[in-house]
Amino acid sequence: MTLSQTSVARRERDPLRATRFELPAVVISGVGVLDQLPDLLAARGVTRVMAVTDRGLREGPVRDAVVAQLDRAGVDYTVFSEVESDPTIEVVEQLADRMRAEGHDGVVAFGGGSAMDAAKAAAAAVTGTGSVRDLLGVDKVQVDPLPLIAIPTTSGTGSEVARFSVLTDSADGAKSSISSMRIMPQVALLDARLVTGLPAHLTASTGFDALGHAVESFGSVWSNPISEALALRAMTLIGRHLRAAVATPGDLVARAGMQAASTSALMASNSTRLGLAHGLAVPLGATHHVPHGVAVSMMLRPMAAFNQAADPQRDAEMAAALDPSAEDLAGAIGSLQRDTNMGARLRDFDVLPTDYDRVIELAQRSDNLLANPREATVEDLKDLLEDAR
Ligand SMILES: NC(=O)c1ccc[n+]([C@@H]2O[C@H](COP(=O)([O-])OP(=O)(O)OC[C@H]3O[C@@H](n4cnc5c(N)ncnc54)[C@H](O)[C@@H]3O)[C@@H](O)[C@H]2O)c1
Ligand SMILES: [Fe+2]
Repeated sequence: MTLSQTSVARRERDPLRATRFELPAVVISGVGVLDQLPDLLAARGVTRVMAVTDRGLREGPVRDAVVAQLDRAGVDYTVFSEVESDPTIEVVEQLADRMRAEGHDGVVAFGGGSAMDAAKAAAAAVTGTGSVRDLLGVDKVQVDPLPLIAIPTTSGTGSEVARFSVLTDSADGAKSSISSMRIMPQVALLDARLVTGLPAHLTASTGFDALGHAVESFGSVWSNPISEALALRAMTLIGRHLRAAVATPGDLVARAGMQAASTSALMASNSTRLGLAHGLAVPLGATHHVPHGVAVSMMLRPMAAFNQAADPQRDAEMAAALDPSAEDLAGAIGSLQRDTNMGARLRDFDVLPTDYDRVIELAQRSDNLLANPREATVEDLKDLLEDAR
């Protein structure tokens, strides 16, 4: 059976249902805003900073720029650069132990989603009473974390404004999240200068992560007019700026556009959850180490084609936002993938049909599948994976 032959079980969106849109974060953006870091720390009374980044940013211009501001601020600080991509619970425990031992009273996270997620979890673990594992799940964070300023250097995850921290359990490789408004960073500092060194392939894949947040949030049965405004605008910005950001790394206008898109898309999805593409992409990260944005990109076009029948009007709205010349959303996504060299397939990561059951079993643990506007059977999910293989 192919996708087009399966029956369409559409989920209804109720425009009158109660919604909750919450956004406690301050977002400061613009070229040069990193210079505001000393004042932001002083305003929060922070004197001993734990600066958290990942191994890839252990040295180089991004680290130097952040450290220069910490020097200017005149605070004591430590730079922890042991975070790995897809951070583990263990590294967060190590980080929290160091923060307790050294008496840090504030956190600056700089890097991609991995560094920010690790820092957010550790900042909560330090003030909490239990272990990092006790914080996994929904609303388990009982005490406000240490103040945290997030400085994203990729434009994709939106972790700087997310109520999620996604962590990997090294025992079985599965990902699980801390989900709590309390772990949202107090300030997101978006300085386009910090993203110009991001290589083209990471610019493209993280850009597709942001596109997934926008498209899936807009399609979610839990979307609401406020989230829709943010998600739709994020699609427009991605359509306008991702190609240039990939082709010309130093294009600050394109970089700033992608930063705004990534942050807006996650602001939208905080209150809507996502859909089938993230539902399947997250387990593919765990089972086959497919980088998050690459996995989202691979699942996004099949998902758009599948969902179109459930809501053709929404599909048309999204296509018009992302690419006014495209016929439908799947076409707009395909064209952007071609122009940004995002041609990877699941088979490139050795994903075999015999792996589908495991991927789907993991996918069913998250509520992203429930947010999708069209119900998918296990057979449908297998077809979506096959389409991406
Ligand atoms: N919290 C959330 O809501 C949320 C949402 C989506 C994804 N995630 C998580 O985020 C993680 C992925 O984050 P990511 O895609 O940002 O990748 P990442 O943080 O793993 O970084 C990828 C690579 O890019 C390098 N890098 C980052 N910025 C750079 C720069 N400016 N110049 C040069 N190199 C740079 C890093 O060193 C690293 O090697 C995953 O663990 C994923 O599960 C979280
Ligand atoms: Fe994502």
